[in-house]
Amino acid sequence: MSNIVRFGVSLEKDLLEKFDSLIESRNYTNRSEAIRDLIRQELIKEEWIEGEDVAGAITLVYDHHKRELLNKITDIQHDFQNIIISTQHIHLDHHNCLELIAVRGNPGQIQKLADRLRSIKGVKHGTLSMTTTGKNI
Ligand code: NI
Repeated sequence: MSNIVRFGVSLEKDLLEKFDSLIESRNYTNRSEAIRDLIRQELIKEEWIEGEDVAGAITLVYDHHKRELLNKITDIQHDFQNIIISTQHIHLDHHNCLELIAVRGNPGQIQKLADRLRSIKGVKHGTLSMTTTGKNI
């Protein structure tokens, strides 16, 4: 790693104890790595508010027997092909399908795509995992 800077942080003993127990439960080996991740998490949140190019994953669980549903999901994806990197379809069981949609591009457009897919009647659960292209953090 390059350009490592050390800095001191002052905080209440109680707060530090809570932080230490939190990071231990999350398997961090030291405070520095936990603080780095917290900072990155905040920077990624900011990218999703003010940035131009972000990455993410949309997951949908739905019953494929509802034929119209599948058509709607496909139609919407064709309207957003500029931000969809890849789509994977997994047959969970006889009825249920899991669709994983990897996305990259404008955060507002990605949100819109996720909202449109999630709000389709018959989609049992939809999530948007917001991450970064990794270039700015
Ligand atoms: Ni399927």
